[in-house]
Amino acid sequence: MARTGDDSWDLASSVGATATMVAAGRAIASRSPDPLIDDPFAAPLVRAVGLDFFTRMLDGDLDLSQVPDASPERLQAMIDGMAVRTKFFDDYFTDAAATGVRQAVILASGLDARAYRLAWPSGTVVYEIDQPAVIEFKSGTLADIGATPTAERRTVGIDLREDWPAALRAAGFDPAAPTAWLAEGLLIYLPPEAQDRLFDLITALSAAGSTVATEYAPGIMDFNAEQARELSAPLREHGLDIDMSALVYAGRRSHVMDYLASLGWQVSGIPRDDLFARFRRPVPTAESVDPLGEIVYVSATLS
Ligand SMILES: C[S@@+](CC[C@H](N)C(=O)[O-])C[C@H]1O[C@@H](n2cnc3c(N)ncnc32)[C@H](O)[C@@H]1O
Repeated sequence: MARTGDDSWDLASSVGATATMVAAGRAIASRSPDPLIDDPFAAPLVRAVGLDFFTRMLDGDLDLSQVPDASPERLQAMIDGMAVRTKFFDDYFTDAAATGVRQAVILASGLDARAYRLAWPSGTVVYEIDQPAVIEFKSGTLADIGATPTAERRTVGIDLREDWPAALRAAGFDPAAPTAWLAEGLLIYLPPEAQDRLFDLITALSAAGSTVATEYAPGIMDFNAEQARELSAPLREHGLDIDMSALVYAGRRSHVMDYLASLGWQVSGIPRDDLFARFRRPVPTAESVDPLGEIVYVSATLS
């Protein structure tokens, strides 16, 4: 179904299902030999969502051998891609904490369990923002399995197209304190002007010493919806009902690195292949290339 300006979802539908998809990637990456990441909460969260495709994926019950674009190399590249992405943002928070930042905001937190699994310095407050049904599901599921946050976790259930800064402040956010912001796996689901507005608002709420991390997906500019639909069609036959072409906002938008720089941030970015090399994972072959292009992982600081 096409996106609308006020659409909503849970973790089994629409954009929410993409949070379950990436958490499934983290679950598999966590249990691979020589794992780069350790997210013990990803698997129970994915199982609790109950989407059959991802449950079977975790159980090793999916036979994708007949799917043309699901070669073992491509699947491994996808899992490694989740591992390097997760590790990049884990390290980002660890580095920010090492500089003394004690306030973090995870935008579009989905099934991100960093508030439960990173070694936050004492006194750190981690805010999570996502749609209310997403926040409630994760909080409830993790409480049910006895998980406890490793920082003071404060949740803000609101749509990022609404007045989230007011909701964040109401939850106790202190704009005078430096903040480590994260927008992981979010931008392609926002219309171009909403992406700009997001970084305008983040900047307005950021004291000196703040940091922000996100990613830039060059392929969103000329995203070929028809090709994406064709690529995902065989997976639909296996029960994966996520039509990325209907969920993303394709077309021209600001290059997030340039936009952040224009707002006064000191920006750096590392392309996916360099990140694979940094973390000693086999760099994906041309056949494994994603329709979103070679993602650039971005971090920036404000002085
Ligand atoms: C691909 S998932 C990424 C989740 C998480 N950041 C991660 O990497 O595991 C996309 C997330 O963006 C959230 N999201 C997208 N648009 C949003 C909006 N307008 N308001 C609130 N959350 C939004 C979805 O609910 C979902 O959790």
